[in-house]
Amino acid sequence: MSTVMVLGGGGREHALAWKLAQSPQVESVLCVPGNPGTALEAKCHNLPISPLDPTALLEAIGRHGVNLVVIGPEAPLVAGVADNLRRAGVAVFGPNQAAAQLEGSKSFAKAFMERHGIPTARYGRFTDLSSASHFLAQQSFPTVIKADGLAAGKGVVIAEDFTEGQRALEQFLPWGPVVIEEFLQGEEASFIAIVVDGQVLPLAGSQDHKRLLDSDLGPNTGGMGAYSPTPILNPAMIERVRREIMLPTAKALSLEALPYRGFLYAGLMITQEGPKVLEFNCRLGDPETQPLLMRLRSDLFPILWTAAQGDALPPQLDWDTQLALCVVLAAPGYPDAPRLGQEILGLDRDPGPNAKIFHAGTQWHGGRFQTAGGRVLGITALAPSIGAAQARVYELARMVSWPGLQMRRDIGWRALASRR
Ligand code: AMP
Ligand code: GLY
Repeated sequence: MSTVMVLGGGGREHALAWKLAQSPQVESVLCVPGNPGTALEAKCHNLPISPLDPTALLEAIGRHGVNLVVIGPEAPLVAGVADNLRRAGVAVFGPNQAAAQLEGSKSFAKAFMERHGIPTARYGRFTDLSSASHFLAQQSFPTVIKADGLAAGKGVVIAEDFTEGQRALEQFLPWGPVVIEEFLQGEEASFIAIVVDGQVLPLAGSQDHKRLLDSDLGPNTGGMGAYSPTPILNPAMIERVRREIMLPTAKALSLEALPYRGFLYAGLMITQEGPKVLEFNCRLGDPETQPLLMRLRSDLFPILWTAAQGDALPPQLDWDTQLALCVVLAAPGYPDAPRLGQEILGLDRDPGPNAKIFHAGTQWHGGRFQTAGGRVLGITALAPSIGAAQARVYELARMVSWPGLQMRRDIGWRALASRR
């Protein structure tokens, strides 16, 4: 029997802890720091330690006899926490710092893709305003301006004209390099795989909804809802992405001596010319994880354990053929300035079978659940069709409330439209 430690405390980590705890091989799951949702899960315990503090982590790993550490969010990966733990002999699922630059630095990722012929938008990288402006003036619009480093979804501007682009350059450049890239037209999808030293084990396809408002309007967010599977990632397209993007990327990582043991997430634009990479993340997506893990029938623990050892991965994973859908309930003011500390009503009710309310930004305070982050809850359900999953999730969402709660009403709209 094993003890697993999950780093992070968002909706993705609640889903990871919930799924890992279902393994007959897992005795307990330590959530660092976890959230009030993980605190309620069977076999799960929260530890109030920072996922960014390797000394405290190693002390807790020793004290609790942890067999495997699974790193959820990007911040500890980009900070090199996996390196620290591996150096101390701990089995870790999550890439080292050097490979996590695929997410931590847009220009690293772009140059990597360029070197290895991985399909992505054309781009230029700039550190000073005059050469950036000069390049911008030669582009057709819309054109995309990205801050180079981690920006929690706020470092991307789609400029409709030169003036808007120039404003974004002036905003981003004082903080570091920028990437100016070609605007890609098409439908977005999330393709996540377990990558281990050149091997690729794809998860099911999924689709996120990045804009705050219905019909994909309003500002970009970390994700307002997701579902799996998605019609755009049909079996032929999945095979194409595996062959044209994931395998070449996994092989190139090995070739560049960037050993990778973790989830690799390709944010894709499915264009007329085929799938192209918008971004790489070195972790699971949030909120894609919630519906994905609800559909996953395979035991996750032995797979992550095998991966952490660098052993051979199974040829495929077993998925429920039904559809899972997650809608995010967000705080008022999200994403710019979320208003927090409000009491959450309705969390005491049981959502019933094949449904789950994952906590993301909550706290337990004075005997009550309160909002404590921009994205507060992820209500997720598994059902035979997109319509049934939507109906179930929105019915459950009605049970929960706080003043000013924000949620999209159209999660899964593309899948519904493609059925008509
Ligand atoms: P990123 O953080 O790079 O994934 O960008 C956030 C969002 O901006 C993406 O989900 C897309 O909706 C949009 N985006 C980013 N790059 C491009 C691009 N080259 N063409 C079109 N849309 C883009
Ligand atoms: N849902 C997008 C992300 O996790 O980056």
